[in-house]
Amino acid sequence: MINGKIDLRSDTVTVPTDEMRQAMFTAVVGDDVYGDDATANELEAIAAEMFGKEAALFVPSGTMSNQLAVFTHVVRGEEVILPDNCHIVGHEAGAAAIIAGAQIRTVQNVAGEMPLEIIERYIRKDISDIHVPRTALISYENADSDGQVRTVEYMKNVKALADKYDIPVHVDGARIFNAATVLGVDVKEMAQYTDTMSICMSKGLCAPVGSILVGSKEFIDKARRKRKILGGGMRQIGFLAAAGKIALLEMSKRLGEDHANAKYMVERLQEVKGITVYPERQQISMVFFELGTYPLTSDELVSYMAENNVIINGQDNGMMRYVTHNYVSKEEIDVVVDLMLAKQ
Ligand SMILES: Cc1ncc(COP(=O)(O)O)c(C=O)c1O
Repeated sequence: MINGKIDLRSDTVTVPTDEMRQAMFTAVVGDDVYGDDATANELEAIAAEMFGKEAALFVPSGTMSNQLAVFTHVVRGEEVILPDNCHIVGHEAGAAAIIAGAQIRTVQNVAGEMPLEIIERYIRKDISDIHVPRTALISYENADSDGQVRTVEYMKNVKALADKYDIPVHVDGARIFNAATVLGVDVKEMAQYTDTMSICMSKGLCAPVGSILVGSKEFIDKARRKRKILGGGMRQIGFLAAAGKIALLEMSKRLGEDHANAKYMVERLQEVKGITVYPERQQISMVFFELGTYPLTSDELVSYMAENNVIINGQDNGMMRYVTHNYVSKEEIDVVVDLMLAKQ
């Protein structure tokens, strides 16, 4: 529970753990714009080492991390190849056009991923023609916003294709630890097939604020300057970095529990008459179902749950999504499913 309620809207609703609060209270801090914040410096060093990259940069949000990547990789008017349903395209308010002046070239996912042959077809090969924009970046998510995980093999293949045309790859790894947990691999193994990656600490990992951008030293130096342009040069961020350290080093190891709880939720939801549950879509902490012939509409279900101290989102494109996290126990899943059973 969070503040007395079962909140299934997203893993972003997680609040800092007691250990994080304690670490934040005692954190050594300094002015990070001067490079003086020892805890932020330590967090960035930990992240760089963890992901096998030369350097890392603390930023306030996953959106800023992605946008800094685009802003740093791409020159105004150049193109980025992306899946059409990804966060950068659909949930960052058009920022890539506003900040980097990037032209977005979207690929329709097939079975959750951009087909390699379409990526290759979309890469601009002959830019000697003055009409043609240059492809400056290929980007995708892992795990994606629909909770689907891309394999290491896929990551390797995208990188090999990008290397063939000398194009960098940015992975939106907002939930990279969820993906690594599902695949049973170290995040370093995944990160080797990216030039840059953004990693969120404020989703399933419970930090209050923060994302990390990793890449080469040269890239991160440039991104640090661009972070300043965006007003993201922060001062005593060690308070946040202290929680971030616990997120990366400890909370990243417990995501299997959330995934197992999500699987349990799928099993229990299948008892509810009228709804259609999608077990095959449950890979990480996200559970998807349609209301079908269930007696309550989406709005009615949201209100009914709220009356019973359960917070859920209404359907999106006909699909309901419940998300498990550190503050959702098996017993609370039973409470939610029993509430639904009571109305069937
Ligand atoms: C895949 C993905 N990328 C990026 C973000 C952006 O993170 P933030 O909300 O911290 O800006 C989200 C947010 O949920 C996300 O799901």
